[in-house]
Amino acid sequence: MKKIIITIDGPAASGKGRIAKYIAKKYNLTHIDSGLLYRKIAKLLIDNKINLKNINHIKKLLNKNNNFTLRNNRDLRNEHIGKVSSIIAKMNFVRKHVNKQQILYTKQKTEKTGFVIDGRDIGSVVFKNADLKLYIEANEKNRAKRRHKQLIDSGERSIYPEILKDIKLRDKKDIKRKNSPLIVPKGAFIIDNNGSFKDTVSQINKLIKNL
Ligand code: C5P
Repeated sequence: MKKIIITIDGPAASGKGRIAKYIAKKYNLTHIDSGLLYRKIAKLLIDNKINLKNINHIKKLLNKNNNFTLRNNRDLRNEHIGKVSSIIAKMNFVRKHVNKQQILYTKQKTEKTGFVIDGRDIGSVVFKNADLKLYIEANEKNRAKRRHKQLIDSGERSIYPEILKDIKLRDKKDIKRKNSPLIVPKGAFIIDNNGSFKDTVSQINKLIKNL
């Protein structure tokens, strides 16, 4: 049977991850967090002290590491790794590497009904023919507040004005970049995530029930 594909795009800290986890659980789908793959590459570059201007070095390291797991890790969630991720996410060869991995995951045998994949270019570039495309919207202040709370709750250091500044900077990088900028994908439903989680998922459940 054909596996269903649901894509979720949206800016940093818009709630994509939480929504994707909820959908995965409720509809028995595998969750692929594409941001995690960028973060894993960023961490690898940081750990190996690789200069981000040394393209050949980055390419070599990627060739040796083409099998990242989908396992999440709290270490990857810090703001420094987030910043480095958005720098390397501008590089076309890095994007191709990450996209190939995502497509490979969806080809693997699975008992699940399909996949829910979240990121910035999933419905616009990687899975253009997805069964359902969602674009999550939330204003900068709400996103910064949520990210700040997440960091504090997980015992990390966080200063709200810095988080807000960071989110604005990451939005700018994601929207303005030449390669696969963050856009509302063609055919995507815009979901307002400024209110409660319950309101958000009720908008989404209606769409999934109509599939
Ligand atoms: O979503 P998350 O914040 O974990 O992603 C880390 C960074 O990876 C983002 O700031 C973004 O620049 C980049 N990214 C991307 N395309 C994706 C997923 C993430 O460019 N599909």
